[in-house]
Amino acid sequence: MDRRIDNLVITGFSGTGKSLVAKEAARRLNWDYLDTDEEIARRTAKPVAEIFRQDGEGRFRELEREAIRRACQKRQTVIAIGGGAIVDPQNYELLARTGLIFCLEAKPETIYERLFRAAARSPKTEVRPLLAVDDPLERIRQLKASRQPHYAKADWTIHTDDLSIDEVAEEVVRAWRLLSGTHPHPNPLPSRERKSGSRLKANDDVACVVQTKTQSYPVFVGYGLLNKLGEKMKQAGLSGTATIISDENVFSIYGDTVERILKEAGFAVNSSVMPPGEETKSMDHAVKIYDFLVEHRAERDDIIVALGGGMVGDLAGFVAATFLRGMPWVQAPTSLVAMVDASIGGKVGINHAKGKNLVGAFYQPNLVLADPETLNTLPERELTSGWAEIVKHGLILDEEFFEFLESNVSKLAKLEPKLLARAIARSAAIKAQVVSQDEKEREGKRTILNYGHTVAHGLEAATRYKRFLHGEAVAIGMVGAAKLSQRLGFLPAAAVERQQALLQKFGLPTSLRAEAASQRRGRQRSNLKLSLAEVTSAMELDKKMKGKEIRWVLLQDIGQAVIRSDLPKKEVLAVLRELAGR
Ligand SMILES: NC(=O)c1ccc[n+]([C@@H]2O[C@H](COP(=O)([O-])OP(=O)(O)OC[C@H]3O[C@@H](n4cnc5c(N)ncnc54)[C@H](O)[C@@H]3O)[C@@H](O)[C@H]2O)c1
Ligand SMILES: [Zn+2]
Repeated sequence: MDRRIDNLVITGFSGTGKSLVAKEAARRLNWDYLDTDEEIARRTAKPVAEIFRQDGEGRFRELEREAIRRACQKRQTVIAIGGGAIVDPQNYELLARTGLIFCLEAKPETIYERLFRAAARSPKTEVRPLLAVDDPLERIRQLKASRQPHYAKADWTIHTDDLSIDEVAEEVVRAWRLLSGTHPHPNPLPSRERKSGSRLKANDDVACVVQTKTQSYPVFVGYGLLNKLGEKMKQAGLSGTATIISDENVFSIYGDTVERILKEAGFAVNSSVMPPGEETKSMDHAVKIYDFLVEHRAERDDIIVALGGGMVGDLAGFVAATFLRGMPWVQAPTSLVAMVDASIGGKVGINHAKGKNLVGAFYQPNLVLADPETLNTLPERELTSGWAEIVKHGLILDEEFFEFLESNVSKLAKLEPKLLARAIARSAAIKAQVVSQDEKEREGKRTILNYGHTVAHGLEAATRYKRFLHGEAVAIGMVGAAKLSQRLGFLPAAAVERQQALLQKFGLPTSLRAEAASQRRGRQRSNLKLSLAEVTSAMELDKKMKGKEIRWVLLQDIGQAVIRSDLPKKEVLAVLRELAGR
């Protein structure tokens, strides 16, 4: 996102002093001041509470969107916005593109007290709707928690509990100078004449917000961002003891750093480190972590931090979902697969002797923070495998993104920081968009994520999960699905070739022959022979089957997936033979 810093935006929950702080900060900067709620009241000649009561919240949000659009056309204005405005993605996008966002924080108890005092001071003003319920403090807590992921996207957060309005305004101005890299003259020129549109130096790393029916949370992607893990967790309203769950490989590289970062942010930290490998995603190891948590007297508000690849994320998330009936948790994915796939969507779980991921839950994290810098230590084959799901996201939903990958593949494969962060952020956003629409995989919308996976699961199962990394099987499976799409007349040959070419440039196998060749070139050659009969029988056992028919995800074009469940077996077999070079 290209950002300007023409304005300064103040958000936060009711009772955090937004309007007064905005006014005071504007005075100090010699800028204009604008409060969107006041604007709305002036334009409609009705107090906001009355608009809510008479016309409904929907109407108010419309008016608010318009007011924000108008405000964002201003320059050098301190804009106070309503506490719920930033929840709307359009509002956020616009505000973030034109200004720096400051969030004023306060504990629910502080907010309650301030609102209560305000109501008592001027009894004629209506008691705010927040106070007019049975348990106002609980209501404040709930509403605030639901907005916290959006507040967490602010560029700067100020805890106002122990500060006066003047002190908060001073901090706003100080932080504005720091973030914008500007030191405005104490008596700046009249606002219209001052140069505006300077580039933002502050971090610009919110990839997306996953917004499901049960929860919403931000996904941060940024090079070097791991250093801000503690800060981001605080901004997400988390505090207390953090238990890091990791595997030996990852913890030996990043464990000390992450422990320090969390301690510096004020968390107490414990770490539970498991052996690496898929076998660890088991009930035995979940029990080991439960034991660790019991021993360390973990409480319900404490936090689980998953630091590692998808294995760690699935296992730690499963523990977070079940221990004490659910603890807050944070995903810090360190593998490419985990950054763009496993950490997003809230599927957590462990394997059972009879099948992968048989035991689990949908349990969304409070935030996801991906630092692509950690990929520098990821083994090459794991990295390559991760690109398959990224390419998949372009293929099923986003042609422009696919083209971006085509244009930058060699730099991406070399982990060029800026491009890498962009690719991961976009890919994560595509996955987030899909899972936001179908959190629990009930409405079939998640099905398109299975592009390439029907054949992939067949290949993986037929080789007992020993020969292929998941992404390798998916790459071959996507080639199969594209060829099938072509045979059935959906997809032009040129698109099949483009897909294949891109996968190859990322170093992924695109047929079973190519896969065998790349294994011979230096990777361990598995003795497991591949039998096509086993592949097809495994495919029929594929869990994505509906009734008796497999639901195939095919392509109509690059960026456009379609779902079909009535494919002739003859065609499927022909494609498998083609992949095997038989
Ligand atoms: N929940 C979901 O929606 C979802 C989606 C896709 C995959 N998954 C699950 O994710 C798992 C696969 O994830 P994965 O590929 O990340 O596997 P993984 O977690 O086993 O990591 C692969 C290997 O890389 C190492 N590693 C990870 N990050 C590293 C780093 N930065 N530096 C050095 N080494 C590092 C790990 O120790 C491990 O040895 C599977 O269990 C799969 O079922 C879950
Ligand atoms: Zn996959």
